[in-house]
Amino acid sequence: MKRLWSRKGLRSSFVEGEGEEGHTLKRHLRTGHLTSIGIGAIIGAGIFVITGQAAALFAGPAVVVSFCLAALICTFTGLCYAELSSMIPVAGGSYSYSYVALGELPAWIIGWSVLGQYIISASTVSVGWSGYAVSFIKSLGVSLSDLWTGAPIAWNHALGWHLTGAVLNLPAIAIVLFLTVLAAIGIKAAAHFNNVMVVVKLATLAIFIFVSFFYIHPGNWIPFIPENARDALGNGIFGEFGWSGVLRASGMVFFAYIGFDTVATLAQETIQPQKSLPRGILGSLFICTIAYILTSLVLTGVVKYTMLNVADPMTVALQMMGPALIWLQFLIQIAIIAGLTTVILVQILGESRMFFAMSKDGLLPKVFSSIHHKTHTPLFATIVTGGACMIVSGLFPIDILAQFVSILTLFIFGIVCLGVLILRRLHPEFPRPFKVPFSPIVPLCGIGTCIAQMCLFPALTWMQFVGWIIVGLFLYFGYSIRHSVVQKKHHSRA
Ligand code: ALA
Repeated sequence: MKRLWSRKGLRSSFVEGEGEEGHTLKRHLRTGHLTSIGIGAIIGAGIFVITGQAAALFAGPAVVVSFCLAALICTFTGLCYAELSSMIPVAGGSYSYSYVALGELPAWIIGWSVLGQYIISASTVSVGWSGYAVSFIKSLGVSLSDLWTGAPIAWNHALGWHLTGAVLNLPAIAIVLFLTVLAAIGIKAAAHFNNVMVVVKLATLAIFIFVSFFYIHPGNWIPFIPENARDALGNGIFGEFGWSGVLRASGMVFFAYIGFDTVATLAQETIQPQKSLPRGILGSLFICTIAYILTSLVLTGVVKYTMLNVADPMTVALQMMGPALIWLQFLIQIAIIAGLTTVILVQILGESRMFFAMSKDGLLPKVFSSIHHKTHTPLFATIVTGGACMIVSGLFPIDILAQFVSILTLFIFGIVCLGVLILRRLHPEFPRPFKVPFSPIVPLCGIGTCIAQMCLFPALTWMQFVGWIIVGLFLYFGYSIRHSVVQKKHHSRA
Protein backbone atom coordinates (compact mmCIF):
# COMPACT_ATOMS: atom_id res chain seq x y z
CA MET A 1 0.00 0.00 0.00
CA LYS A 2 2.85 2.35 0.90
CA ARG A 3 4.29 1.78 -2.59
CA LEU A 4 1.38 3.63 -4.17
CA TRP A 5 2.45 6.82 -2.43
CA SER A 6 6.18 6.57 -3.32
CA ARG A 7 7.37 10.09 -4.03
CA LYS A 8 10.02 11.20 -6.47
CA GLY A 9 12.96 13.08 -4.95
CA LEU A 10 12.84 16.79 -5.68
CA ARG A 11 16.48 16.96 -6.73
CA SER A 12 16.28 13.91 -8.96
CA SER A 13 13.22 15.40 -10.70
CA PHE A 14 15.11 18.59 -11.25
CA VAL A 15 18.04 16.95 -13.03
CA GLU A 16 16.14 14.23 -14.84
CA GLY A 17 15.75 16.40 -17.96
CA GLU A 18 19.31 15.50 -18.86
CA GLY A 19 18.39 12.01 -20.00
CA GLU A 20 20.20 9.22 -21.72
CA GLU A 21 21.21 9.32 -25.41
CA GLY A 22 18.18 9.31 -27.70
CA HIS A 23 15.84 10.42 -24.88
CA THR A 24 16.76 14.11 -24.64
CA LEU A 25 14.76 17.09 -25.88
CA LYS A 26 16.49 20.12 -27.41
CA ARG A 27 16.35 23.50 -25.56
CA HIS A 28 15.54 26.49 -27.77
CA LEU A 29 12.40 28.16 -26.40
CA ARG A 30 12.43 31.58 -24.68
CA THR A 31 9.82 33.71 -22.83
CA GLY A 32 8.43 35.12 -26.10
CA HIS A 33 7.96 31.66 -27.60
CA LEU A 34 6.31 30.39 -24.41
CA THR A 35 3.91 33.34 -24.20
CA SER A 36 3.03 32.81 -27.83
CA ILE A 37 2.51 29.07 -27.35
CA GLY A 38 0.32 29.88 -24.31
CA ILE A 39 -1.84 32.30 -26.32
CA GLY A 40 -1.94 29.80 -29.18
CA ALA A 41 -3.33 27.20 -26.79
CA ILE A 42 -5.76 29.50 -24.96
CA ILE A 43 -7.65 31.56 -27.55
CA GLY A 44 -9.90 29.18 -29.47
CA ALA A 45 -13.37 27.65 -29.50
CA GLY A 46 -14.09 29.09 -26.04
CA ILE A 47 -14.17 32.74 -27.10
CA PHE A 48 -15.24 32.14 -30.71
CA VAL A 49 -18.15 29.76 -30.07
CA ILE A 50 -18.99 29.26 -26.38
CA THR A 51 -19.21 32.97 -25.37
CA GLY A 52 -22.36 33.47 -27.44
CA GLN A 53 -24.09 30.37 -26.07
CA ALA A 54 -23.15 31.23 -22.47
CA ALA A 55 -24.60 34.75 -22.88
CA ALA A 56 -27.77 33.62 -24.67
CA LEU A 57 -28.64 30.68 -22.43
CA PHE A 58 -27.22 31.45 -18.97
CA ALA A 59 -25.75 34.86 -18.17
CA GLY A 60 -26.85 37.58 -20.63
CA PRO A 61 -24.44 40.56 -20.88
CA ALA A 62 -23.10 39.49 -17.46
CA VAL A 63 -21.12 36.83 -19.34
CA VAL A 64 -18.30 39.34 -18.92
CA VAL A 65 -18.58 38.73 -15.15
CA SER A 66 -18.42 34.97 -15.85
CA PHE A 67 -15.19 35.56 -17.76
CA CYS A 68 -13.80 37.51 -14.79
CA LEU A 69 -14.75 34.70 -12.36
CA ALA A 70 -13.15 32.04 -14.58
CA ALA A 71 -10.07 34.27 -14.92
CA LEU A 72 -9.87 34.44 -11.12
CA ILE A 73 -9.71 30.62 -10.85
CA CYS A 74 -7.05 30.59 -13.56
CA THR A 75 -5.03 33.34 -11.87
CA PHE A 76 -4.92 31.44 -8.56
CA THR A 77 -3.91 28.31 -10.46
CA GLY A 78 -1.57 30.12 -12.87
CA LEU A 79 0.39 31.52 -9.91
CA CYS A 80 0.69 27.99 -8.46
CA TYR A 81 1.82 26.62 -11.86
CA ALA A 82 4.37 29.42 -12.04
CA GLU A 83 5.87 28.53 -8.65
CA LEU A 84 6.01 24.80 -9.35
CA SER A 85 7.30 25.13 -12.91
CA SER A 86 10.11 27.45 -11.75
CA MET A 87 10.98 24.99 -8.98
CA ILE A 88 10.67 21.72 -10.96
CA PRO A 89 11.25 22.62 -14.62
CA VAL A 90 10.64 19.20 -16.20
CA ALA A 91 8.43 18.12 -19.11
CA GLY A 92 5.52 16.59 -17.17
CA GLY A 93 3.99 19.78 -15.70
CA SER A 94 1.25 19.02 -13.16
CA TYR A 95 2.01 15.30 -13.36
CA SER A 96 5.64 15.81 -12.32
CA TYR A 97 4.68 18.16 -9.47
CA SER A 98 2.21 15.58 -8.12
CA TYR A 99 4.89 12.87 -8.25
CA VAL A 100 7.09 14.94 -5.97
CA ALA A 101 4.37 16.32 -3.70
CA LEU A 102 1.79 13.52 -3.42
CA GLY A 103 3.30 10.24 -4.66
CA GLU A 104 2.99 7.83 -7.55
CA LEU A 105 -0.70 6.88 -7.61
CA PRO A 106 -1.95 10.51 -7.40
CA ALA A 107 0.67 11.43 -10.02
CA TRP A 108 -0.59 8.68 -12.32
CA ILE A 109 -4.19 9.86 -11.87
CA ILE A 110 -3.16 13.43 -12.71
CA GLY A 111 -1.02 12.31 -15.67
CA TRP A 112 -3.87 10.19 -16.97
CA SER A 113 -6.29 13.13 -16.54
CA VAL A 114 -3.91 15.40 -18.47
CA LEU A 115 -3.66 12.84 -21.28
CA GLY A 116 -7.48 12.83 -21.42
CA GLN A 117 -7.63 16.61 -21.23
CA TYR A 118 -5.34 17.10 -24.23
CA ILE A 119 -6.86 14.41 -26.42
CA ILE A 120 -10.47 15.44 -25.78
CA SER A 121 -9.68 19.15 -25.93
CA ALA A 122 -7.76 18.90 -29.23
CA SER A 123 -10.65 16.83 -30.59
CA THR A 124 -13.26 19.34 -29.34
CA VAL A 125 -11.49 22.20 -31.07
CA SER A 126 -11.00 20.13 -34.25
CA VAL A 127 -14.76 19.59 -34.40
CA GLY A 128 -15.23 23.38 -33.95
CA TRP A 129 -12.62 23.95 -36.68
CA SER A 130 -14.51 21.62 -38.98
CA GLY A 131 -17.77 23.58 -38.45
CA TYR A 132 -16.11 26.93 -39.28
CA ALA A 133 -14.17 25.49 -42.23
CA VAL A 134 -17.31 23.94 -43.73
CA SER A 135 -19.28 27.19 -43.44
CA PHE A 136 -16.33 29.17 -44.88
CA ILE A 137 -16.12 26.82 -47.86
CA LYS A 138 -19.89 27.17 -48.25
CA SER A 139 -19.55 30.97 -48.40
CA LEU A 140 -17.21 30.38 -51.36
CA GLY A 141 -20.02 28.50 -53.10
CA VAL A 142 -19.00 24.88 -52.39
CA SER A 143 -21.31 22.71 -50.23
CA LEU A 144 -19.93 19.60 -48.54
CA SER A 145 -22.20 16.67 -47.69
CA ASP A 146 -23.46 16.41 -44.08
CA LEU A 147 -22.63 12.70 -44.23
CA TRP A 148 -18.90 13.47 -44.23
CA THR A 149 -18.83 16.60 -42.05
CA GLY A 150 -20.88 15.57 -39.00
CA ALA A 151 -20.45 13.37 -35.93
CA PRO A 152 -21.94 9.85 -36.32
CA ILE A 153 -22.46 9.45 -32.54
CA ALA A 154 -24.39 11.87 -30.31
CA TRP A 155 -26.14 12.13 -26.93
CA ASN A 156 -29.20 14.02 -25.74
CA HIS A 157 -31.72 13.76 -22.89
CA ALA A 158 -34.50 12.36 -25.06
CA LEU A 159 -32.58 9.63 -26.97
CA GLY A 160 -29.49 8.99 -24.82
CA TRP A 161 -26.55 7.75 -26.95
CA HIS A 162 -27.63 7.37 -30.59
CA LEU A 163 -26.41 7.30 -34.20
CA THR A 164 -27.00 10.46 -36.25
CA GLY A 165 -26.73 8.96 -39.74
CA ALA A 166 -23.48 10.80 -40.55
CA VAL A 167 -20.46 8.64 -41.46
CA LEU A 168 -17.43 10.60 -40.23
CA ASN A 169 -16.32 14.17 -39.57
CA LEU A 170 -13.67 14.18 -42.30
CA PRO A 171 -12.53 17.85 -42.07
CA ALA A 172 -11.82 17.34 -38.34
CA ILE A 173 -9.75 14.24 -39.13
CA ALA A 174 -7.91 16.07 -41.92
CA ILE A 175 -6.83 19.02 -39.75
CA VAL A 176 -5.58 16.68 -37.00
CA LEU A 177 -3.59 14.71 -39.57
CA PHE A 178 -1.96 17.86 -40.98
CA LEU A 179 -1.01 19.19 -37.53
CA THR A 180 0.29 15.82 -36.36
CA VAL A 181 2.73 15.81 -39.28
CA LEU A 182 3.77 19.37 -38.40
CA ALA A 183 4.33 18.48 -34.73
CA ALA A 184 6.30 15.41 -35.77
CA ILE A 185 8.63 17.39 -38.07
CA GLY A 186 10.04 19.36 -35.14
CA ILE A 187 9.19 21.73 -32.31
CA LYS A 188 11.00 24.63 -34.00
CA ALA A 189 8.92 24.42 -37.15
CA ALA A 190 5.82 24.07 -34.99
CA ALA A 191 6.76 27.10 -32.85
CA HIS A 192 7.33 29.29 -35.96
CA PHE A 193 3.98 28.25 -37.42
CA ASN A 194 2.34 28.99 -34.08
CA ASN A 195 3.91 32.48 -33.84
CA VAL A 196 2.50 33.50 -37.22
CA MET A 197 -0.97 32.20 -36.35
CA VAL A 198 -1.00 33.92 -32.95
CA VAL A 199 -0.23 37.30 -34.53
CA VAL A 200 -3.05 36.83 -37.08
CA LYS A 201 -5.47 35.81 -34.32
CA LEU A 202 -4.65 38.62 -31.88
CA ALA A 203 -4.64 41.28 -34.62
CA THR A 204 -8.05 40.19 -35.84
CA LEU A 205 -9.51 40.14 -32.31
CA ALA A 206 -8.12 43.67 -31.80
CA ILE A 207 -9.71 44.85 -35.06
CA PHE A 208 -13.02 43.24 -34.08
CA ILE A 209 -12.97 44.96 -30.68
CA PHE A 210 -11.98 48.33 -32.18
CA VAL A 211 -14.58 48.31 -34.97
CA SER A 212 -17.37 46.94 -32.76
CA PHE A 213 -16.77 49.74 -30.27
CA PHE A 214 -18.45 52.21 -32.68
CA TYR A 215 -21.56 50.03 -33.04
CA ILE A 216 -22.36 49.45 -29.36
CA HIS A 217 -25.92 50.19 -28.23
CA PRO A 218 -25.73 50.58 -24.43
CA GLY A 219 -29.40 49.49 -24.31
CA ASN A 220 -28.23 45.94 -25.17
CA TRP A 221 -26.48 45.76 -21.79
CA ILE A 222 -29.80 46.28 -19.96
CA PRO A 223 -30.69 44.20 -18.01
CA PHE A 224 -27.05 43.40 -17.32
CA ILE A 225 -27.96 40.28 -15.31
CA PRO A 226 -31.30 39.06 -16.72
CA GLU A 227 -33.85 37.90 -14.17
CA ASN A 228 -33.65 34.25 -13.08
CA ALA A 229 -35.84 31.99 -15.31
CA ARG A 230 -38.78 30.34 -13.50
CA ASP A 231 -40.46 26.94 -13.82
CA ALA A 232 -44.24 26.33 -14.07
CA LEU A 233 -44.57 26.66 -10.27
CA GLY A 234 -42.78 29.99 -10.27
CA ASN A 235 -39.58 28.64 -8.66
CA GLY A 236 -36.28 30.02 -9.94
CA ILE A 237 -34.39 27.55 -12.23
CA PHE A 238 -30.80 27.17 -11.05
CA GLY A 239 -28.28 28.27 -13.67
CA GLU A 240 -30.67 30.04 -16.05
CA PHE A 241 -29.90 33.75 -15.65
CA GLY A 242 -29.71 35.61 -12.35
CA TRP A 243 -26.51 35.11 -10.32
CA SER A 244 -26.72 31.31 -10.58
CA GLY A 245 -26.64 31.73 -14.38
CA VAL A 246 -23.50 33.84 -14.14
CA LEU A 247 -21.86 31.02 -12.13
CA ARG A 248 -23.02 28.32 -14.55
CA ALA A 249 -21.75 30.39 -17.49
CA SER A 250 -18.38 30.78 -15.79
CA GLY A 251 -18.07 26.96 -15.79
CA MET A 252 -18.82 27.06 -19.52
CA VAL A 253 -16.43 29.86 -20.45
CA PHE A 254 -13.73 28.30 -18.26
CA PHE A 255 -13.03 26.18 -21.35
CA ALA A 256 -11.83 29.38 -23.04
CA TYR A 257 -8.88 29.68 -20.59
CA ILE A 258 -7.64 26.11 -20.84
CA GLY A 259 -4.19 25.95 -22.38
CA PHE A 260 -1.86 28.15 -20.29
CA ASP A 261 -0.83 25.04 -18.35
CA THR A 262 0.61 23.60 -21.58
CA VAL A 263 3.51 26.05 -21.24
CA ALA A 264 4.72 24.20 -18.13
CA THR A 265 5.09 20.95 -20.10
CA LEU A 266 7.72 22.56 -22.37
CA ALA A 267 10.20 23.01 -19.50
CA GLN A 268 12.81 20.70 -20.99
CA GLU A 269 12.81 22.58 -24.29
CA THR A 270 13.20 26.00 -22.62
CA ILE A 271 16.59 27.75 -22.37
CA GLN A 272 16.05 29.38 -18.95
CA PRO A 273 13.01 27.55 -17.57
CA GLN A 274 13.10 29.07 -14.07
CA LYS A 275 12.71 32.57 -15.47
CA SER A 276 10.79 31.99 -18.68
CA LEU A 277 8.10 29.54 -17.50
CA PRO A 278 6.39 31.82 -14.91
CA ARG A 279 6.58 34.73 -17.35
CA GLY A 280 5.16 32.66 -20.21
CA ILE A 281 2.30 31.28 -18.10
CA LEU A 282 1.23 34.52 -16.43
CA GLY A 283 1.88 36.65 -19.53
CA SER A 284 -0.30 34.55 -21.82
CA LEU A 285 -3.05 34.35 -19.18
CA PHE A 286 -3.02 38.13 -18.69
CA ILE A 287 -3.19 38.96 -22.42
CA CYS A 288 -6.03 36.48 -23.01
CA THR A 289 -8.04 37.71 -20.01
CA ILE A 290 -7.98 41.29 -21.32
CA ALA A 291 -8.90 40.09 -24.83
CA TYR A 292 -11.84 38.01 -23.49
CA ILE A 293 -13.26 40.75 -21.27
CA LEU A 294 -13.19 43.28 -24.11
CA THR A 295 -14.55 40.84 -26.70
CA SER A 296 -17.48 39.69 -24.55
CA LEU A 297 -18.26 43.30 -23.62
CA VAL A 298 -18.42 44.56 -27.22
CA LEU A 299 -20.17 41.43 -28.45
CA THR A 300 -23.09 41.82 -26.03
CA GLY A 301 -23.04 45.59 -26.66
CA VAL A 302 -23.47 45.21 -30.43
CA VAL A 303 -25.93 42.27 -30.42
CA LYS A 304 -28.80 41.60 -27.97
CA TYR A 305 -27.71 38.56 -25.95
CA THR A 306 -30.85 36.64 -26.93
CA MET A 307 -29.56 36.42 -30.52
CA LEU A 308 -26.18 34.90 -29.67
CA ASN A 309 -27.02 31.18 -29.41
CA VAL A 310 -25.30 30.42 -32.74
CA ALA A 311 -22.12 28.66 -33.88
CA ASP A 312 -20.58 31.94 -35.07
CA PRO A 313 -21.58 34.80 -32.72
CA MET A 314 -18.93 37.15 -34.10
CA THR A 315 -20.28 36.83 -37.63
CA VAL A 316 -23.72 37.76 -36.25
CA ALA A 317 -22.20 40.87 -34.65
CA LEU A 318 -20.48 41.84 -37.90
CA GLN A 319 -23.69 41.33 -39.87
CA MET A 320 -25.42 43.79 -37.50
CA MET A 321 -22.88 46.43 -38.54
CA GLY A 322 -24.10 46.44 -42.13
CA PRO A 323 -22.95 45.21 -45.58
CA ALA A 324 -20.06 47.69 -45.72
CA LEU A 325 -18.14 45.45 -43.33
CA ILE A 326 -18.46 42.23 -45.34
CA TRP A 327 -14.63 42.23 -45.84
CA LEU A 328 -14.21 42.16 -42.07
CA GLN A 329 -16.57 39.21 -41.80
CA PHE A 330 -14.41 37.35 -44.28
CA LEU A 331 -11.23 38.28 -42.40
CA ILE A 332 -12.66 37.23 -39.04
CA GLN A 333 -13.72 33.85 -40.42
CA ILE A 334 -10.17 33.19 -41.66
CA ALA A 335 -8.69 34.33 -38.34
CA ILE A 336 -11.00 32.03 -36.39
CA ILE A 337 -9.98 29.06 -38.51
CA ALA A 338 -6.32 30.04 -37.94
CA GLY A 339 -6.93 30.53 -34.23
CA LEU A 340 -8.50 27.13 -33.79
CA THR A 341 -5.63 25.57 -35.75
CA THR A 342 -3.02 26.80 -33.25
CA VAL A 343 -5.04 25.51 -30.30
CA ILE A 344 -5.10 22.00 -31.79
CA LEU A 345 -1.38 22.14 -32.60
CA VAL A 346 -0.33 23.18 -29.09
CA GLN A 347 -2.48 20.46 -27.55
CA ILE A 348 -0.92 17.79 -29.77
CA LEU A 349 2.52 19.06 -28.69
CA GLY A 350 1.51 19.02 -25.02
CA GLU A 351 0.06 15.50 -25.23
CA SER A 352 3.18 13.99 -26.76
CA ARG A 353 5.33 15.64 -24.03
CA MET A 354 3.09 14.12 -21.35
CA PHE A 355 3.53 10.68 -22.91
CA PHE A 356 7.27 11.39 -22.91
CA ALA A 357 7.39 12.27 -19.20
CA MET A 358 5.24 9.34 -18.04
CA SER A 359 7.20 6.89 -20.17
CA LYS A 360 10.51 8.07 -18.73
CA ASP A 361 9.12 7.17 -15.31
CA GLY A 362 8.26 3.67 -16.54
CA LEU A 363 4.52 4.22 -16.14
CA LEU A 364 4.07 3.89 -19.93
CA PRO A 365 6.11 1.75 -22.36
CA LYS A 366 9.55 3.12 -23.21
CA VAL A 367 8.75 3.69 -26.88
CA PHE A 368 6.70 6.75 -25.83
CA SER A 369 9.87 8.57 -24.73
CA SER A 370 12.11 7.70 -27.66
CA ILE A 371 13.25 10.80 -29.53
CA HIS A 372 13.71 10.52 -33.26
CA HIS A 373 17.34 11.24 -34.17
CA LYS A 374 16.45 13.50 -37.13
CA THR A 375 13.39 15.45 -35.94
CA HIS A 376 14.39 15.56 -32.23
CA THR A 377 10.72 15.01 -31.33
CA PRO A 378 8.95 12.13 -29.53
CA LEU A 379 7.76 10.74 -32.86
CA PHE A 380 5.91 7.64 -31.67
CA ALA A 381 4.08 9.60 -28.94
CA THR A 382 3.10 12.25 -31.51
CA ILE A 383 1.70 9.63 -33.89
CA VAL A 384 -0.34 7.94 -31.12
CA THR A 385 -1.67 11.36 -30.05
CA GLY A 386 -2.70 12.22 -33.59
CA GLY A 387 -4.34 8.81 -34.07
CA ALA A 388 -6.39 9.10 -30.86
CA CYS A 389 -7.52 12.65 -31.73
CA MET A 390 -8.52 11.58 -35.23
CA ILE A 391 -10.76 8.83 -33.83
CA VAL A 392 -12.44 11.04 -31.19
CA SER A 393 -12.89 14.10 -33.43
CA GLY A 394 -14.15 11.95 -36.31
CA LEU A 395 -16.88 10.36 -34.17
CA PHE A 396 -18.19 12.73 -31.46
CA PRO A 397 -19.90 16.16 -31.37
CA ILE A 398 -18.50 19.28 -29.67
CA ASP A 399 -21.04 19.61 -26.83
CA ILE A 400 -20.40 16.28 -25.10
CA LEU A 401 -16.64 16.79 -25.29
CA ALA A 402 -16.22 20.39 -24.02
CA GLN A 403 -17.64 19.96 -20.48
CA PHE A 404 -15.67 16.75 -20.04
CA VAL A 405 -12.46 18.67 -20.76
CA SER A 406 -13.38 21.40 -18.28
CA ILE A 407 -14.07 19.05 -15.36
CA LEU A 408 -10.80 17.17 -15.96
CA THR A 409 -8.94 20.48 -16.08
CA LEU A 410 -10.50 21.81 -12.86
CA PHE A 411 -9.53 18.57 -11.11
CA ILE A 412 -5.91 18.93 -12.31
CA PHE A 413 -5.78 22.62 -11.36
CA GLY A 414 -7.03 21.88 -7.83
CA ILE A 415 -4.29 19.27 -7.33
CA VAL A 416 -1.61 21.68 -8.58
CA CYS A 417 -2.69 24.25 -5.95
CA LEU A 418 -2.58 21.50 -3.30
CA GLY A 419 0.93 20.59 -4.52
CA VAL A 420 2.20 24.10 -3.72
CA LEU A 421 1.01 23.81 -0.11
CA ILE A 422 2.50 20.33 0.37
CA LEU A 423 5.87 21.20 -1.15
CA ARG A 424 6.17 24.36 0.94
CA ARG A 425 5.85 22.05 3.97
CA LEU A 426 8.03 19.17 2.68
CA HIS A 427 10.79 21.24 1.05
CA PRO A 428 10.77 24.76 2.46
CA GLU A 429 14.51 24.99 1.76
CA PHE A 430 14.34 24.33 -1.99
CA PRO A 431 14.95 27.42 -4.20
CA ARG A 432 11.81 28.91 -5.69
CA PRO A 433 12.73 31.48 -8.38
CA PHE A 434 9.03 32.43 -8.40
CA LYS A 435 6.86 32.30 -5.24
CA VAL A 436 3.06 32.46 -5.04
CA PRO A 437 2.23 35.64 -3.10
CA PHE A 438 0.02 35.43 0.02
CA SER A 439 0.44 31.67 0.43
CA PRO A 440 -1.47 29.72 1.75
CA ILE A 441 -4.42 32.02 0.92
CA VAL A 442 -3.93 31.97 -2.87
CA PRO A 443 -3.48 28.15 -3.20
CA LEU A 444 -6.44 27.57 -0.84
CA CYS A 445 -8.62 29.93 -2.91
CA GLY A 446 -7.48 27.98 -6.00
CA ILE A 447 -8.53 24.65 -4.47
CA GLY A 448 -11.85 26.04 -3.20
CA THR A 449 -12.84 27.69 -6.48
CA CYS A 450 -11.94 24.60 -8.55
CA ILE A 451 -14.08 22.34 -6.32
CA ALA A 452 -16.98 24.81 -6.35
CA GLN A 453 -16.88 25.07 -10.15
CA MET A 454 -16.70 21.26 -10.53
CA CYS A 455 -19.85 20.90 -8.39
CA LEU A 456 -21.80 22.99 -10.93
CA PHE A 457 -21.39 20.41 -13.75
CA PRO A 458 -24.29 18.05 -14.64
CA ALA A 459 -24.39 14.29 -13.86
CA LEU A 460 -23.36 13.21 -17.40
CA THR A 461 -20.10 15.16 -17.12
CA TRP A 462 -19.41 13.60 -13.72
CA MET A 463 -20.01 10.12 -15.17
CA GLN A 464 -17.52 10.78 -17.99
CA PHE A 465 -14.99 12.02 -15.44
CA VAL A 466 -15.38 9.05 -13.07
CA GLY A 467 -15.30 6.60 -16.04
CA TRP A 468 -12.00 8.06 -17.28
CA ILE A 469 -10.41 7.76 -13.81
CA ILE A 470 -11.55 4.11 -13.49
CA VAL A 471 -9.96 3.19 -16.85
CA GLY A 472 -6.77 4.89 -15.67
CA LEU A 473 -6.73 2.85 -12.45
CA PHE A 474 -7.03 -0.38 -14.46
CA LEU A 475 -4.01 0.62 -16.55
CA TYR A 476 -2.00 1.59 -13.48
CA PHE A 477 -2.57 -1.68 -11.66
CA GLY A 478 -2.31 -3.69 -14.90
CA TYR A 479 0.95 -2.21 -16.22
CA SER A 480 2.46 0.88 -14.60
CA ILE A 481 2.92 -0.34 -11.03
CA ARG A 482 5.14 -3.21 -12.27
CA HIS A 483 7.30 -1.04 -14.53
CA SER A 484 7.63 2.11 -12.43
CA VAL A 485 11.23 3.37 -12.22
CA VAL A 486 10.61 4.87 -8.77
CA GLN A 487 9.27 1.53 -7.46
CA LYS A 488 12.28 -0.31 -8.90
CA LYS A 489 14.67 2.11 -7.16
CA HIS A 490 12.84 1.65 -3.86
CA HIS A 491 13.06 -2.16 -4.26
CA SER A 492 16.76 -2.15 -5.03
CA ARG A 493 17.42 0.02 -1.98
CA ALA A 494 15.31 -2.24 0.30
N1 ALA B 1 -8.99 27.42 -24.50
C1 ALA B 1 -9.12 26.63 -25.65
C2 ALA B 1 -10.27 27.04 -26.48
O1 ALA B 1 -10.98 27.94 -26.12
C3 ALA B 1 -9.20 25.19 -25.30
O2 ALA B 1 -10.47 26.49 -27.54
